[in-house]
Amino acid sequence: MTIVSVDLADRPYDIRVEAGLLDRIPDFVSPFVRNGRLLIVTDTNVEELLWPDVQACLAHANIDTALYVLPAGESGKSWTELERLTDWLLENHVERSDHIVALGGGVVGDITGFAAHIVKRGCSFVQIPTTLLAQVDSSVGGKTAINSRSGKNLVGAFHQPSLVLIDPDVLQSLPRRQLASGFAEVVKYGLIDDADFFDWCDTHLEAFFDGDAEAREYAIVHSVKSKARIVAADETELTGTRALLNLGHTFGHALEADTGFSDRLFHGEAVATGMVLAFRYSARLELCATQDADRVAKVLHRAGLPVTLSDAGVTAKGARLVEHMLHDKKMAGGKLPFLLARGIGKTFLNKDVDLADIAAFLDNQD
Ligand code: GLY
Repeated sequence: MTIVSVDLADRPYDIRVEAGLLDRIPDFVSPFVRNGRLLIVTDTNVEELLWPDVQACLAHANIDTALYVLPAGESGKSWTELERLTDWLLENHVERSDHIVALGGGVVGDITGFAAHIVKRGCSFVQIPTTLLAQVDSSVGGKTAINSRSGKNLVGAFHQPSLVLIDPDVLQSLPRRQLASGFAEVVKYGLIDDADFFDWCDTHLEAFFDGDAEAREYAIVHSVKSKARIVAADETELTGTRALLNLGHTFGHALEADTGFSDRLFHGEAVATGMVLAFRYSARLELCATQDADRVAKVLHRAGLPVTLSDAGVTAKGARLVEHMLHDKKMAGGKLPFLLARGIGKTFLNKDVDLADIAAFLDNQD
């Protein structure tokens, strides 16, 4: 078992990573049982794939459960679903001392965390992420949110979990496309500030996708260590350190918006193309070598991820994509900060990017 601590001054918590951990779930959640039962939130996919075993395991340890099942997919992160979920929590007499368990991918974790933040003015929650993307990114660091008519994740709060439990074995049932989507966020940690880890991703990519247990566990542990370090340094994105985690996300969000935030382009796929665009734009500004951008594209392409606008199914002109970017949460004083790179592992925040130049750059991309 690897235990990674997120060292927040007033609310430190642990991330526990171990293959087969789900089979021992009572060992970890027992301290959170109140009034003899646990409130658990999941979605229809996880209910079918994992819930029967998890429930049996908890029942064996005499832990009663009440289960709330969200619709699978991004539609689960709506105002309507938030209302239903909070009503259900209240009908089940949730108390402030309760720890609501989020068992699922990013959507389940994001909405459960936000519901935990607001219900009864705040109770606690535990994250048990079941997709790679949730394991290496969204379950750690306390960003919670739902989507609004104006865009993705625009209504939310920082609310840290009390514990994150990660079982790499659950990835065995994850579709290849979803695994690749999460892998984009793994590679991101190398690109931000860890060139050695990018080399590791390059070298171990095939092992990872072939199901090598050691490679998968290493990728997850290394990623959550990076995320824990960055979150501990800048929990609420005040100093710019946490903003590094948004590498590829400004371009990526525009691509997601243009494809309707739908299954046409998964978040991690948009981030993959976005990271390549960030490197290509950095090369255009002569901040990094074109070979660096080419190498980033090559590795992500080998993972089966889209690395060009056409791969991503985006045909919009640069001006249209920049229009999408104007809805970005990071807009400040009419400026949009961009993550650019001076090389692999040398990402930095540039607050002075000319959006007209970004549009012209995008017009010239395949
Ligand atoms: N996924 C970006 C962050 O947690 O800050």
